[in-house]
Amino acid sequence: MLKLENINTFYGNIHALKNVDIEIRQGEIITLIGANGAGKSTTLMSICGVVPPRSGKIVFEDEDITQTPTDVIVSRGIIQVPEGRRIFPALTVRENLDMGAFLRKDKEKIKMDIEYVFELFPILADRRNQVGGTLSGGEQQMLAISRALMASPRLLLLDEPSLGLAPIIVQQIFSIIKKINEEQKTTIFLVEQNANLALKTAHRGYVMETGRITQADTTKALLANDKIRDAYLGV
Ligand SMILES: Nc1ncnc2c1ncn2[C@@H]1O[C@H](COP(=O)(O)OP(=O)(O)O)[C@@H](O)[C@H]1O
Ligand SMILES: [Mg+2]
Repeated sequence: MLKLENINTFYGNIHALKNVDIEIRQGEIITLIGANGAGKSTTLMSICGVVPPRSGKIVFEDEDITQTPTDVIVSRGIIQVPEGRRIFPALTVRENLDMGAFLRKDKEKIKMDIEYVFELFPILADRRNQVGGTLSGGEQQMLAISRALMASPRLLLLDEPSLGLAPIIVQQIFSIIKKINEEQKTTIFLVEQNANLALKTAHRGYVMETGRITQADTTKALLANDKIRDAYLGV
């Protein structure tokens, strides 16, 4: 579905991504794990065209999107939930969800999708008329994911959904990420520092260190790998 081939991305002179190869197949949950500053968010920015790579190729559903503008990439169905759950704080939950469906015209399906996200996150249904800024961190993350779902993503990019949240909320959000993948067949690219949970949630994983992919394998193999256990799992 998505293929990154030999991607090199820079911020001025800073060489943030070095010869990155990643492949995501339809229906998979793929995780990219790595320490702070490894280049995980930059990988997502390169896919979305926000920070286009200087060299290499990104192919989405057989089309080269390497230099495609972000709005076109979004309209093809690549939807990102950015780090730090940027919702619209002054808009209500319901209005935030409507913003997610902004580009769509299929009114009936939009209605069904709203019902679906309220089913996934009943707390958002209870708070539909509350402004986003007054929600807890966990609820804001739920809203950010729900807003992305309202865009009817083909490929959902999640940037550290666990960041700053209590373990019990993180568990809840990750089990819903799995559920979305299973029920909606949405392909998911999950970027995380929480390697343990990410590897337990995804099918395959990539490890990034200072801009390079250093490991790529099934999550089962990565969880059993001594180097990964020492460096990322603390066991
Ligand atoms: N806007 C930017 N300008 C300059 N350097 C940046 C910028 N964003 C990120 N970087 C640098 O690129 C590298 C990768 O960062 P990032 O992709 O944010 O890592 P991660 O998401 O894995 O924490 C880091 O060295 C970071 O300092
Ligand atoms: Mg990041």
